Amino acid sequence: MMGWKIAMCNAFLVVMLVLLSSWVSWGEASVSYDHKAISVNGQRRILISGSIHYPRSTPEMWPDLIQKAKEGGLDVIQTYVFWNGHEPEPGKYYFEGRYDLVKFIKLVHQAGLYVNLRIGPYACAEWNFGGFPVWLKYVPGISFRTNNGPFKAAMQKFTTKIVNMMKAERLYETQGGPIILSQIENEYGPMEYELGAPGRAYSEWAAKMAVDLGTGVPWIMCKQDDAPDPIINTCNGFYCDYFSPNKAYKPKMWTEAWTGWFTQFGGPVPYRPAEDLAFSVARFIQKGGSFINYYMYHGGTNFGRTAGGPFIATSYDYDAPLDEYGLLRQPKWGHLKDLHRAIKLCEPALVSGDPTVMSLGNYQEAHVFKSRSGSCAAFLANYNQHSFAKVSFWNMHYNLPPWSISILPDCKNTVYNTARIGAQSAQMKMTPVSKGFAWQSYNEELMSYEDNSFTMVGLREQINTTRDNTDYLWYTTDVKIDPREGFLRGGKWPVLTVFSAGHALHVFINGQLSGTAYGSLESPKVTFSKSVNLRAGVNKISLLSIAVGLPNVGPHFETWNAGVLGPVSLSGLNEGKRDLTWQKWTYKVGLKGESLSLHSLSGSSSVEWVEGSYIAQRQPLTWYKTTFNAPSGNEPLALDMDTMSKGQVWINGQSIGRYWNEYKASGNCGACNYAGWFNEKKCLSNCGKASQRWYHVPRSWLRPTGNLLVVLEEWGGNPYGISLVKREVASVCADIYEWQPTLVNWQLQASGKVNKPLRPKAHLSCAAGQKISSIKFASFGTPQGSCGNFQEGSCHAFHSYDVFERYCIGQQSCTVPVTPEIFGGDPCPSVMKKLSVEAICS
Ligand SMILES: *[C@@H]1O[C@H](CO)[C@@H](O)[C@H](O)[C@H]1NC(C)=O
Repeated sequence: MMGWKIAMCNAFLVVMLVLLSSWVSWGEASVSYDHKAISVNGQRRILISGSIHYPRSTPEMWPDLIQKAKEGGLDVIQTYVFWNGHEPEPGKYYFEGRYDLVKFIKLVHQAGLYVNLRIGPYACAEWNFGGFPVWLKYVPGISFRTNNGPFKAAMQKFTTKIVNMMKAERLYETQGGPIILSQIENEYGPMEYELGAPGRAYSEWAAKMAVDLGTGVPWIMCKQDDAPDPIINTCNGFYCDYFSPNKAYKPKMWTEAWTGWFTQFGGPVPYRPAEDLAFSVARFIQKGGSFINYYMYHGGTNFGRTAGGPFIATSYDYDAPLDEYGLLRQPKWGHLKDLHRAIKLCEPALVSGDPTVMSLGNYQEAHVFKSRSGSCAAFLANYNQHSFAKVSFWNMHYNLPPWSISILPDCKNTVYNTARIGAQSAQMKMTPVSKGFAWQSYNEELMSYEDNSFTMVGLREQINTTRDNTDYLWYTTDVKIDPREGFLRGGKWPVLTVFSAGHALHVFINGQLSGTAYGSLESPKVTFSKSVNLRAGVNKISLLSIAVGLPNVGPHFETWNAGVLGPVSLSGLNEGKRDLTWQKWTYKVGLKGESLSLHSLSGSSSVEWVEGSYIAQRQPLTWYKTTFNAPSGNEPLALDMDTMSKGQVWINGQSIGRYWNEYKASGNCGACNYAGWFNEKKCLSNCGKASQRWYHVPRSWLRPTGNLLVVLEEWGGNPYGISLVKREVASVCADIYEWQPTLVNWQLQASGKVNKPLRPKAHLSCAAGQKISSIKFASFGTPQGSCGNFQEGSCHAFHSYDVFERYCIGQQSCTVPVTPEIFGGDPCPSVMKKLSVEAICS
């Protein structure tokens, strides 16, 4: 039953309901819900979903991403709708290329999956301005995400536009389409708490506005405990097993199970161990959860200037099961696939009713689900972070690793444990395919007084001036220095101090770069304070203020400023300190090279470039261009920008995004154990290196020959270090315990074909087109370490390598059972052993 049926209370509504349900049943399709689950066509379902944001990949990548999601055991694809991509100017809509929402949904439908459409239209998503168009801020009288007339009118107009578009394309499930759920607003709970009464009124309005659109499928609101009926409130987080919906008749749903975390320029790269992610999902399901969505399943790329923050990196990889490039991230993808199969084996029992919970020890529990038809499924949990638990459940004994859950689809045999990975791991590599490009360069003119510049007294806010059409705004002023100034006769240089609301700043004195300052995601404000080289007479101070993505979250983030708001002052003069804030400032929006479209095929020929030994190197504000042919093969491609500092890159006129290799990741990248509560600061990599070194180049943006590569370097770099690389599997590993349970073995036993315990098998598989060329490591015994750095332990079977060398070398994939005989006998009979193996792919 859908909640709105329950909420109904008068005869008029009954009539409406009868009309509506007859229309619904005419299509023989319906989506409803009760306390247990979402039901599709009358069938309660355990639904596994994953987020893939369509503009963060290309239409050419979509079918493969969706197929890999399906093979990974997903039922649903979830996406936000990106308002600022779809309505770049008021009333001018765009639904093409990466923004072809209908095409994306139809591809999901063709693959046989459902869609959870998060219309928002607030998205957050570390996306520029949280998905709001920048023009929306300048609608008179507007205030975002509160009980404000102009905002509500704009939100209703866009939401209605999307719903009508979906209806016209017959994309709702009740019309035979794939959309089973819609979302209105997004994580509004914390905002409502902040705003009080107007927040509550807005939330009520948003709920009613959405429900009145009559989509025929349920609406959800995430992270919004008081979501008005019939809307289902849902949970977002690293764990959501503690969560209960606000009404007993609503199902327990997890809209964002965070698979990792985003990267910011200047921050390390976060990752989340597969064992803990699987554990959190099993915890949620055993507590009666019936819908889980991985955020992200494919994170992808913030192409162009779509990254929010500010300071969100161009890569939105998110440590997702499909990596930024669309390749399987192993073992995460495979370990979750195995989890989904185990959960689906339990589905009949899971949807039948609530679990019985039994204590098995101080930190151990069993959750048992039984259906009336007799099926039984059990989840055995060990919450202890430090030690194994031997538990007894219905007269059988089970060994549970720390911080893990075992799944028993027949209440007897374990088919899966969240801390025991059966899937292979893979190490990836970035192999150069073209380097030594023949570059040409063009020096950006420093701000000159020309056509589109204007002068006024005082300092202007940046976004109001640029309307975010560019990252760049020039602020230029003249400073007269008296020949009698003391510093001109051997005194100390004067100090220029500039306060900026953000996000980055290059300071030029008389055309020379004098210094750079920038903020961070946590504190975007910038203070520049440095002695500057001035001469007698008129000096030109040019401040190039740079936005690095607009904020996407926080109370009234639309009011946060950027740019040089002052004060700006010069100290150390004869007069003491001179305030420059209220001088005349000349403004220019954007760079000259931008107005000439130097990034495009046609625009790049509008200026004279220099080549050969005249190329500007380590010069600020330099444009570089070259052409190259597409490499053969179909591996994903990237640009290695490690010798460059900060700027933007384009290929054939399409923006790859912002790069900022000079911003090194600061943080603590210590060892990371999967066991114990995870948060976004627990497991980090890349400390001391560029937060992002490689930038995804979609294959579909290339033609066979003559591709135009244009780089805008703001700060100074060496373009000869730029190379095009391909991403491929370097090696694959298996790391498996003897007697580790597997679903395949359970199925063999359940079918009656075998009636003895079976050992697991190690599967190794290189990418299509690759072969296993050597065995880097193999040990059956007590090896240590993880894929890429295994070491032998005190117990090691001497023939560990032989079998892999015999069966695997020269093959694309191979399978070896984990039995002592194969490795020349049991090297240490009374010890629990495992097999660790790493095979090189080439
Ligand atoms: C934008 O700038 C204009 C012109 O200076 C000013 O009148 C207006 O108040 C500004 N708007 C906002 C929202 O800051």
